[in-house]
Amino acid sequence: MKKSIGHEKIKTAVFISGKGSNLKNLIKFSKLKHYPFSVDLIISNTNKAKGLKYSKEYKIEKKIINYDKKIKNDKKILKFLKKKKIKLICLAGFMKILSNNFIKKFEGKIINIHPSLLPKYKGLNTHVRAIKSGDKFAGCTVHYVTSKLDSGKIILQKKIKISRKDNRYSLSKKVLKKEHLIYPAAIKKILN
Ligand code: GRF
Repeated sequence: MKKSIGHEKIKTAVFISGKGSNLKNLIKFSKLKHYPFSVDLIISNTNKAKGLKYSKEYKIEKKIINYDKKIKNDKKILKFLKKKKIKLICLAGFMKILSNNFIKKFEGKIINIHPSLLPKYKGLNTHVRAIKSGDKFAGCTVHYVTSKLDSGKIILQKKIKISRKDNRYSLSKKVLKKEHLIYPAAIKKILN
């Protein structure tokens, strides 16, 4: 992974599908002097993603990509990312699976935040699964993206206690707070 040199920030694209609280948080951190990245592009697979509002709010370019036309789109997206000099991709609540070709072309430069203590609970509905299993702890993980779902090398992980009163909503709220701590920290870790 290319490291940041001096004050030059690494150009980053954040991929979203939903409300974009991680996106907003990354934008905020990227503006701090000692964080080595800038958010230069927001990509979403749907124009319904609430997080797209941050494009306007922070004057960051956005692009909607129809991921159903996977292969054809790959080339187009790769070309676009190259043109924008994007060196790092952060998936933040992005609900589509990237093609192997795309991941290969960006190998080691795509990271994701997942709301569980990986390798536990890959995929969806992590909080319900953790509660149903009677787990004492939940958490979140930032990891490299490989062609195997939620299985790439772990960069940072944060654990929290599940209380007996927790349901999936309260747990997801608690975990999201920690996501907002570890995602920027993980980027700093790999770029510094
Ligand atoms: C987060 O819990 C993230 O871990 C998961 O999807 C959620 C996205 O939340 N992959 P937001 O859109 O960043 O608010």
